[in-house]
Amino acid sequence: MNSETQGIAGKVVVITGASSGLGEATARHLSALGAPVVLGARRADRIEALAGEIVKAGGKATAVATDVTDAAQVQRLVDAGVAQFGRIDVMLNNAGLMPHSPLERRKVADWDRTIDVNIKGVLYGIAAALPHMQRQNSGHFINVSSVAGHKVRPAGAVYSATKTAVRVISEGLRQEVKRWNIRTTIISPGSLATELPQSITEPDIAKNVGDFYEEYALPADSFARVVAFAMSEPEAVDINEILFRPTRQEL
Ligand SMILES: NC(=O)c1ccc[n+]([C@@H]2O[C@H](COP(=O)([O-])OP(=O)(O)OC[C@H]3O[C@@H](n4cnc5c(N)ncnc54)[C@H](OP(=O)(O)O)[C@@H]3O)[C@@H](O)[C@H]2O)c1
Repeated sequence: MNSETQGIAGKVVVITGASSGLGEATARHLSALGAPVVLGARRADRIEALAGEIVKAGGKATAVATDVTDAAQVQRLVDAGVAQFGRIDVMLNNAGLMPHSPLERRKVADWDRTIDVNIKGVLYGIAAALPHMQRQNSGHFINVSSVAGHKVRPAGAVYSATKTAVRVISEGLRQEVKRWNIRTTIISPGSLATELPQSITEPDIAKNVGDFYEEYALPADSFARVVAFAMSEPEAVDINEILFRPTRQEL
């Protein structure tokens, strides 16, 4: 094992939102470093193709179609990973969406979806993985927040509320799971080039955010390297929170 794969090779990592963007980039990066990956997302064709590619390249991967707004489906994803690879070392609660809009436009359906995926999806990931980690007396939750979990801007109130909730839930989890030797990491990225702006349903807001991303966004693999860093620290070291941005991003 070389210094790059140390702390990563052999760790079983369950990733929600693995069909694009940060989840996909992280699956590729960690599997190249020797981690078996368990891929969840609704677009089964995408995660199956990705799992196939990883296996063909000599890695270990499995795909389970999963809607994170359904607790039973998230449980099935985690249990499938444990059944196939024998354990779960990391639960990466990454699935999310960002349908920005000003509150006065009353996009209630967007608010509901954002809360269901970004908050409840993370909670369901915790519910599914925690019993396995308690039994193992080890594990690591990595929950994806955002710069928006630290700052709120017009049109971003609901998204920021969900990403703040992820930080609050993660900090509560951190305090509660010490006795099972479980680590918790919050990762709060700035803008990264993914499909995320496509979840915006208001054309004018989509244009503004699209222009911002075009100017500033970093490649998604910058996030994958941050995940690898948090994972690779020795077990006694719990990296609790990482906030990172494109160097040029002011917000
Ligand atoms: N990109 C950024 O600039 C940025 C910055 C800060 C934080 N983040 C956070 O990073 C995370 C990943 O987003 P991304 O940037 O990689 O965007 P993305 O390319 O749009 O990926 C989002 C992922 O979430 C999945 N997803 C959405 N709804 C789902 C559901 N109901 N059940 C299961 N999976 C679902 C999507 O898969 P399916 O559609 O196939 O289900 C997709 O794989 C999100 O939590 C986002 O808030 C991103």
